[in-house]
Amino acid sequence: MEIRAEEIKNNPNRPQHVAIILDGNGRWAKKRGLPRMMGHNEGVKTVREIVTASAEAGVKYLTIYAFSKQNWNRPKDEVSAIMSLLLKTAQREIKELHRNNVRLKVIGDKNDLPNEARDVLEQGIELTKDNELLTLVVALSYGSRDEILRAVHTLAEDVKSGELDPNDINETLFGSRLDTADIPDPDLIIRTSGEYRISNYLLWQAAYAEFYFAEELWPDFHRQEYYKALLSYTQRERRFGKTSEQVSI
Ligand code: IPE
Ligand code: IPE
Ligand code: MG
Repeated sequence: MEIRAEEIKNNPNRPQHVAIILDGNGRWAKKRGLPRMMGHNEGVKTVREIVTASAEAGVKYLTIYAFSKQNWNRPKDEVSAIMSLLLKTAQREIKELHRNNVRLKVIGDKNDLPNEARDVLEQGIELTKDNELLTLVVALSYGSRDEILRAVHTLAEDVKSGELDPNDINETLFGSRLDTADIPDPDLIIRTSGEYRISNYLLWQAAYAEFYFAEELWPDFHRQEYYKALLSYTQRERRFGKTSEQVSI
């Protein structure tokens, strides 16, 4: 049976923040005898569909893993074609996001990105900063260990300059130095393509996330598959270390 957006939206247990590891673009193309880039092009369409589906289902934060720190190690032509696709997509889609009241954020090491793409993204972040329907967080040149180390460096500098007492370092302060500073932790992490790993994604933030693994390759992951994941999440009991009796009161 079809799952409707309202069904999720009206459910008080729906996730506030969904983070996705979109995987399987290359295999989608290969299965059809096409070059890998065709899979990435197709994957952009799915991103658009899932952004809309998220807003309609009342999800407030959607984080998508679009390019990892480790992805720079792919063949040069794939990397540069992905960077061109990123620029083209950002140029085309940012106005649309703004029209739809979506706020754009980027996590990851922006310094690694080509200047033009970085500029377009920064303008988009500025343009959409007051939008409230949904926050779309795009992880670009993102690696969680890299993010954590960058946070550690800022703390170490503050200790060295005498501005910070090491005893004052707690979870809240540490979290505020991460790229995700003003973003709540993900409630649900979805990975497509039948791979069961985290690939350096949101390691700190995922401490208590629920996981959902979908068999579909990312370009085949449509609204219904997504809503199936959200519905599965609403049926789980999150205990945060407590007993079932404690949390079900
Ligand atoms: C995910 O698809 C997109 C990126 C990592 C940029 P892949 O390109 O990893 O696709 P597969 O895993 O090779 O099929
Ligand atoms: C993870 O996908 C990164 C992104 C989705 C951008 P990969 O396909 O690069 O992951 P691994 O290297 O196979 O784990
Ligand atoms: Mg992959």
